[in-house]
Amino acid sequence: MTDVNTLVQEPSSGATTKDENCKDCSRREFFAKVGMGSLIVAAAGTGLFSYEYFSPNVLFESAPIIKAGKPDQFPANTVTLDAQSGIYLINGAKGFYALGAICTHLGCLTAWKPELDLIACPCHGSRFNRDGIKVAGPAPQPLPWLKVWLAEDGNLMVDRSSPLKEPEYVKV
Ligand code: FES
Repeated sequence: MTDVNTLVQEPSSGATTKDENCKDCSRREFFAKVGMGSLIVAAAGTGLFSYEYFSPNVLFESAPIIKAGKPDQFPANTVTLDAQSGIYLINGAKGFYALGAICTHLGCLTAWKPELDLIACPCHGSRFNRDGIKVAGPAPQPLPWLKVWLAEDGNLMVDRSSPLKEPEYVKV
């Protein structure tokens, strides 16, 4: 029967040095991997920062000129909200005109209430008549009148960028 002690060999002095070298090697490999990982993280961060730095920092806003539609889309004596553009197109007794639909108090989108014959703000209760004049609530200004014209293709166009000082109507 083989003695267990004979299977376990004492390391020679050269083997002990080799084992210590291997420990050194694994420690060296470990720190090399940590170093490489740090370099990769730093390179990724630098790349991301460079991408952000060189990317154009712009806000995309929709165009100020709106094609509202053909006049026959707006029956007489109606107020039509285009919520996406934030405008009202009104077919009134004097002709077509447009109002901004954003409340002049804190910028909420207003809504037409035909049962009240008023434009109402859902946020703090401001109300405007169909000419944009404030009749109730905290709004400090009327709703702005916007320039409207009939384009060559027969569509009503609205310019949201230039509020009018005086009401203007488009007769069709
Ligand atoms: S935002 Fe319209 S009343 Fe305040």
